[in-house]
Amino acid sequence: MSAAVDLLVLDPTDSIVVEELDRAFRLHHLWQAPDAERLLATVAPAVRGLVVDGGSVDDALLGRFPALEIVASYGVGYDAIDAAAAGRRGIVVTNTPGVLDDEVADLCVGLLLATIRELPQADRYVRAGKWPTGPYRLTSTLRGRTVGIFGLGRIGKAVARRLEAFGVELCYFGRTRQPDVPYEYVPGLVPLTERADTLICAVPGGSGTRHAVNAEVMRALGPDGVLVNIGRGATINEPALIAALQGGTIRAAGLDVFEDEPDVPEQLMRMENVVLLPHVGTGSFATREAMARLVVGNIVDWFAGRGPRTPVPETSGIGSRLTTATEERL
Ligand code: NAP
Ligand code: 8YV
Repeated sequence: MSAAVDLLVLDPTDSIVVEELDRAFRLHHLWQAPDAERLLATVAPAVRGLVVDGGSVDDALLGRFPALEIVASYGVGYDAIDAAAAGRRGIVVTNTPGVLDDEVADLCVGLLLATIRELPQADRYVRAGKWPTGPYRLTSTLRGRTVGIFGLGRIGKAVARRLEAFGVELCYFGRTRQPDVPYEYVPGLVPLTERADTLICAVPGGSGTRHAVNAEVMRALGPDGVLVNIGRGATINEPALIAALQGGTIRAAGLDVFEDEPDVPEQLMRMENVVLLPHVGTGSFATREAMARLVVGNIVDWFAGRGPRTPVPETSGIGSRLTTATEERL
């Protein structure tokens, strides 16, 4: 039944997604096309689903597909997709929430410890043959820290649960106070960083959080301050972070995400008080497979008339209406 359905894969994505969808759908790959405009001119009128892995999907792009019903995104963060525009056009957007929380939270705790106890730097010290010349320098500690979580959502909560076992104080800021969590709510990012000496960012990207972590926030975090970002790079004002690290306004930073990936500012790469990861929060075989299967599940369910499994809130009302239309077409 779905053999006639055309899907367009916008950018390179997980091989499981491609192999599974290829069995039941007619797949086109925009990123492989020698002439993208030519491929679009040929296939756009028939495309009913887009598959995207981090690439931008704006209103203008959505407008090029008159038969489009679903945009399935590989990842939970969908700040590169104009989901509100999709909703207005009656197009459902799906993401991959829940299946990656524990993996990203594990990575976050590892990054926090690596940053505070300087694990990559100590590893480099051994490899450079410096140990025989004397012991590695003493480091800062996680002991006695107060950790503020900016964005206590699915991932933020998974991080907080892990940090409970480390005996640190925990507090958080988000737009809404959550009455059912055992952590202190601090109403504002500057107040949060006045209260905490360690900031973990787990908020989505987008205009609501862009450059929210600025010079004022870092001043409030203080000279022993440690910043860890596993959300989106644009949440941090990178020039302000570089200045804060260079001037001793804060102590150190651990970053899995950057504003202009895969380009990382030269100044950060030259610094000793940072740990830099290439956006690997979900990067295990098992978690990437779970994400892939959810992408496929969303598309298969949609075209089988069962509605999407995990629509984003902006398009969550679309399920039943388009499902009826889809069923009529099948
Ligand atoms: P989530 O469950 O939606 O949680 C997001 C949290 O951020 C919520 O607690 C929300 O609380 C808060 N928030 C949203 N907008 C805010 C704003 N403008 N100001 C303050 N707080 C705000 O999302 P999640 O599943 O935990 O994922 C979080 C993000 O992590 C994703 O969007 C993605 O960007 C990133 N991520 C990164 C990796 C990686 O590999 N590094 C992997 C997965 C996800 P309120 O609504 O109360 O404000
Ligand atoms: C990426 C992520 O999507 O889920 C998210 O929001 O940032 C990651 O899982 C992943 O790197 C695939 O591109």
